[in-house]
Amino acid sequence: MEGVAGKVAIVTGGSSGIGVGVARKFVRAGVKVVLADIVDEPGERLASELGENCRYVHADLRSNEDVEQLVAATVREFGGIDFLINSACTYADRGEAATREEWLDAYNVNVFGHVVLLQLARPHLARSENASVVNFTTEAAHAGLAGRWVYPSSKAAIEQLTKSQALDLANEGIRVNSVLPGWIRKPMHDTAPAEVKQEYAKWGDKLHMLGRLGTLDEVADTVLFLCSSHASFTTGSCMVVDGGHSAMGPQGREKVLPTALRKAASVPPGTK
Ligand SMILES: NC(=O)c1ccc[n+]([C@@H]2O[C@H](COP(=O)([O-])OP(=O)(O)OC[C@H]3O[C@@H](n4cnc5c(N)ncnc54)[C@H](O)[C@@H]3O)[C@@H](O)[C@H]2O)c1
Repeated sequence: MEGVAGKVAIVTGGSSGIGVGVARKFVRAGVKVVLADIVDEPGERLASELGENCRYVHADLRSNEDVEQLVAATVREFGGIDFLINSACTYADRGEAATREEWLDAYNVNVFGHVVLLQLARPHLARSENASVVNFTTEAAHAGLAGRWVYPSSKAAIEQLTKSQALDLANEGIRVNSVLPGWIRKPMHDTAPAEVKQEYAKWGDKLHMLGRLGTLDEVADTVLFLCSSHASFTTGSCMVVDGGHSAMGPQGREKVLPTALRKAASVPPGTK
């Protein structure tokens, strides 16, 4: 992809899941990547595996000081910042039982931490000739989800923020988009007990038009596209990478109308 080689990206949540997929893809494309996370060992291991174009920085998004240090370390190591990939999140969500402290903690990671990161990185992004911010949302931000109040609403906030940030940063040449993945297969699915694997496979089949879970690579390809110069006219958008999940109605892939009724309904009135 054009416009990415030699650029510098911060990937939050870089120790796990989609963050790992993005880091691998970006380094392969010639991007210098700083992984930021609070779970250090896998992030440090990934950085050493990916070599001289990757670093790991411990940064808790709930701490302004940590985020300041993350920005400073990135600029010190690689000379600037072109891309923010805001993959970190907490899924912690006790729904109707969640306390004020739990709400604040989740929003601190999923929303506020990424806002502060953008505020602090903004002067560096503004100096880039191809600056791009990628946030992550979910289909659950668009519909009621039984037992979950905190995570989906924090993602709805991210979708709105993506648009306001895109608008306010457009005149500095900073593009801001979000990516909406379907259910994505992560390495933990491979090591999970058989019944958990079966459960994921079942939902992968049921929830997606394509009848399977998505891959880290498929999400990372979209993130790379959004950072490339091929997406130079794309900002404020939500790019869906969900195997058709959000375009499917409640009946899923089932043809619910009984066959006899379907036949009758397809005969125009007055004909035999
Ligand atoms: N995986 C999916 O199927 C899926 C589907 C829809 C949307 N998403 C979105 O994609 C993004 C990545 O999801 P994932 O499943 O790969 O996540 P994940 O849980 O695998 O990784 C999230 C990472 O964020 C880190 N993190 C948590 N709190 C942090 C903090 N305070 N400071 C810094 N890092 C912190 C965690 O340690 C973890 O490494 C999320 O924003 C999620 O909402 C994922």
